[in-house]
Amino acid sequence: MENVAIQNSYSIPISPRELYPRLDWDRDVIVLGIESTAHTFGVGIASTNPPYLLVDARSTYKPEKGGIHPREAASHHTRRAPEVLREALEYSGVSIRDVDAIAVALGPGLGPALRVGATIARGLSVYFGKKLVPVNHAIAHLEIGKLVTGMKDPLILYVSGGNTTVTALAKNRYRVFGETLDIALGNLLDTFARDVGLAPPYIVEGMHVVDRCAEDADEPVLLPYVVKGMDVSFSGLLTAAERAWRRAGERDKPRICLGLREVAYSATIEVAERGIAHTKKRETLLTGGVAASPILREKFREMATYQRVRPGYPPARLSGDNGAMIAWTGLLYYLLGVTIEVEDSSVRQRWRIDSVDTPWL
Ligand code: FE2
Repeated sequence: MENVAIQNSYSIPISPRELYPRLDWDRDVIVLGIESTAHTFGVGIASTNPPYLLVDARSTYKPEKGGIHPREAASHHTRRAPEVLREALEYSGVSIRDVDAIAVALGPGLGPALRVGATIARGLSVYFGKKLVPVNHAIAHLEIGKLVTGMKDPLILYVSGGNTTVTALAKNRYRVFGETLDIALGNLLDTFARDVGLAPPYIVEGMHVVDRCAEDADEPVLLPYVVKGMDVSFSGLLTAAERAWRRAGERDKPRICLGLREVAYSATIEVAERGIAHTKKRETLLTGGVAASPILREKFREMATYQRVRPGYPPARLSGDNGAMIAWTGLLYYLLGVTIEVEDSSVRQRWRIDSVDTPWL
């Protein structure tokens, strides 16, 4: 159930030199990255030389019932960390002595889970004398998405269990143009699925169970659609959908899934579309765990075509949480000279992307 999944064959369509012209790509740098913010413990290794992402190894905690329990996730990570780390090093053929820095996702995320990754990163840093690089997990999702789609300056829709954010780089930071006012898109889908008995498991053959249940419906049940300015709100939608489910006969249940999916995806895409109109960006990136949804991708692609911007999304394996994105983003910050001392490496459960300087362009 908790096998280590490992991969290294990601195609990078463009040289990072073009994406990050301010960084010195003539340096030979290798960074090991550690991810442990939520259900996944991952280790990745990134390099300034092709193929750039040398390895991505991970083990994911899957609750038997209910949602993520932070302490159970932390104990999964503690149990699996040695094997994930060993496999990443063995598979890539990189010795820990060849690594220039240890990058770690210090937040945002679940405190107990975050502390496992941070503790391991500090240990490796101190024992092997490596620099420590702090990485914001959300920014790592954005940067790996840009790398594998070859996008330099996209408007980004970042959707996951904990985030629904429309963002773009402006004046050295990712500025948040819109976000959820309450629960995130992934949290909405998971909570609904769990409360009505469709999950766990949440994903079946690459598709969320809510997307799957909606396939059997011809037309959606009408549910509340809430966009306030540039922000979305999903808690009222969740309550309404669950109430409708309790009253519905078996035949109408797929119509509720379809209504929920259509409202949630459309509201999210609407905010992204306005972000594009506002920022005049020429590219748009869909990323984060929910970006793996083929239904959401299709709606996103349609919107981008309508707005005449280039759409992109990472392969599903890099949409979800992984160590490669932490290693890659850590490498970018390392090239900028961003490192921290061990005593300053406390975890930041609510670390916002718009509080981090990101001077790539
Ligand atoms: Fe994530």
